[in-house]
Amino acid sequence: MQIEEKNITIGVNDLKVSYRDNQMGGVPVLIFIHGFPFNKSMWYKQMSEFKDKFRVISYDVRGHGNTEEGDAAFTIDLFALDLIGFMDALKIDKAILCGLSMGGYIALRAITNFPERVEGLILSDTNCIADTPEAKEKRLKSIDTIKENGMEWYADVSAKNLFAPGSFTTNTAEIEFVKEMILNTSQKSIYHTLQALSTRKETCSKLLQIKVPVLILVGKEDKITPPEASQRMHETIVGSFLKIIKGAGHLSNLENSTEFNDQLRKFLIKISTLSKAPSIEKIAVEDGSMKDINSKILKITMNIKDHHPELSKYLEEMPVTIPLEENPKITYEILRQYYESLNSMLNKYLLEHPHYSKK
Ligand code: MLT
Repeated sequence: MQIEEKNITIGVNDLKVSYRDNQMGGVPVLIFIHGFPFNKSMWYKQMSEFKDKFRVISYDVRGHGNTEEGDAAFTIDLFALDLIGFMDALKIDKAILCGLSMGGYIALRAITNFPERVEGLILSDTNCIADTPEAKEKRLKSIDTIKENGMEWYADVSAKNLFAPGSFTTNTAEIEFVKEMILNTSQKSIYHTLQALSTRKETCSKLLQIKVPVLILVGKEDKITPPEASQRMHETIVGSFLKIIKGAGHLSNLENSTEFNDQLRKFLIKISTLSKAPSIEKIAVEDGSMKDINSKILKITMNIKDHHPELSKYLEEMPVTIPLEENPKITYEILRQYYESLNSMLNKYLLEHPHYSKK
């Protein structure tokens, strides 16, 4: 599969970084960070989907795609520094970061070290742990096996682990596309990145400090960063949303792009309305108003279940697992928006089906 790549470059630290950018002004900036050993083109289905509403940017991490390798030793910390340098070069103060796997490691490191530069996070098929000693050893061994067996072999073996079994019949073009990305990554960069991945530090202990909206997405059949890892992050990140993507392995954005994009769209709409809402910090949340919003949600939910079960599917969006005590202001705001979205959905439905209103 040939993805049309406009090779725009910009100087960042000691490198020329290659990126794509729709350059739309006055809208939230969404930066996509690819996994290993891929490049920015892995986001083509998201770049085209969101290009009319957001400023969408994807870039090649150091040593991948068309970005230079530079002279420094690769680390995830360095990749996060490169990302911030890239944002500086583009004069982007804050962005929503969407990272898959290694891209998620980079996004988590960036928000840990530079929280003021991140206004939302999408963590896709990723994890917050460091490599176990066994995983480290496996990575270092794979350097030797690539030297022995060659890149074609490595691309084949990787594809088997990356994709859900069903994708080998339904997503054959994607599989070829991913293998191509792997084959287009230099062996030197692969070795250096394997080293970087094996020495990365954990970010699980930092998750509680995250104060921005977070969406966690993971392929149901992801063998590399399985759903349990996402579940653990979801339980720790206050107010985060978790969606498991069916029919997908580790590359959920490619294997089930429809579901991935739907979830991403809903989350981005939430963030956009949050940023337009009166500053969350200014919303005083008394016990009473929290109870009030909960009882409003309960009432409208019962109304929908009892009288309009055909709308019940929208109830699944309820952000049920938000720990109230951690950040009541954000919780309140999310609940209030949830109530308002149900209310306006119901009103719209009643307008379109007037026979119900008369009952
Ligand atoms: C990735 O997709 O970025 C890699 O699977 C990450 C890893 O090997 O830890």
